[in-house]
Amino acid sequence: MKAGHVRRFSPVERLLHWVNAAGFFFLLVTGLILYLPSLSMLVSRRQTIQGIHFWGGVGWLGALAGVVLLGGRRLLATARELDSFDGDDLSWLRGRGAPQGRFNAGQKINAVLTAAFTILFGVSGLLLWFGEEDTRYRFASTVILHDGLMYVSLALLVGHLYLALIHPATRHALRGMTLGSVDAGWAARHHAKWRPD
Ligand code: HEM
Repeated sequence: MKAGHVRRFSPVERLLHWVNAAGFFFLLVTGLILYLPSLSMLVSRRQTIQGIHFWGGVGWLGALAGVVLLGGRRLLATARELDSFDGDDLSWLRGRGAPQGRFNAGQKINAVLTAAFTILFGVSGLLLWFGEEDTRYRFASTVILHDGLMYVSLALLVGHLYLALIHPATRHALRGMTLGSVDAGWAARHHAKWRPD
């Protein structure tokens, strides 16, 4: 590790993040081809795209489950960190600048929503797929849920990309997700309650 740096994310945490990001982008692009008439018209084989999107989704969920199994206790500890919300987190959300742990309150909310949306994308996607063949699985609101999730997660993604790539105070965090480590001074300023190993 570079001098003056501390380790922020383990290899398996980074693997989970990038597997999630790659699958999400793939499904976003193939989903938008199905959703937007202008793109659908450019791609004549709708059925092929439907199959690619569906099996891509199944592969995404399978790959995420594989990484979670690989991560075992390490990822369970990360989930507990993300799931612990204290008074400082509430103050931070109210803009009072309270000290934060390894994850700030915004990152905790983003992670919990991302996990919940992944499950809901999977359930609604499976219902859409099986509903094509069997009317017992067909519900009027399934497509509304699937599309709604796409809109909300797209809005979260734009905010996430802005903070990770553009905002001067936070873009250093990208180094933690690519190389694993961050500058110790930056960590102390942004995550004052975090005690790196
Ligand atoms: C968990 C995995 C997923 C599965 C199994 C899945 C499955 C499906 C299926 C079966 C359809 C219907 C295709 C059709 O009949 O036209 C569909 C549509 C769609 N999916 Fe997914 N999907 C998943 C994740 C995602 C994600 C992550 C996104 C976007 C970020 C997304 C965006 C869309 C969009 C925009 C449509 C078009 C809906 C419409 O035509 O109104 N999907 N998906």
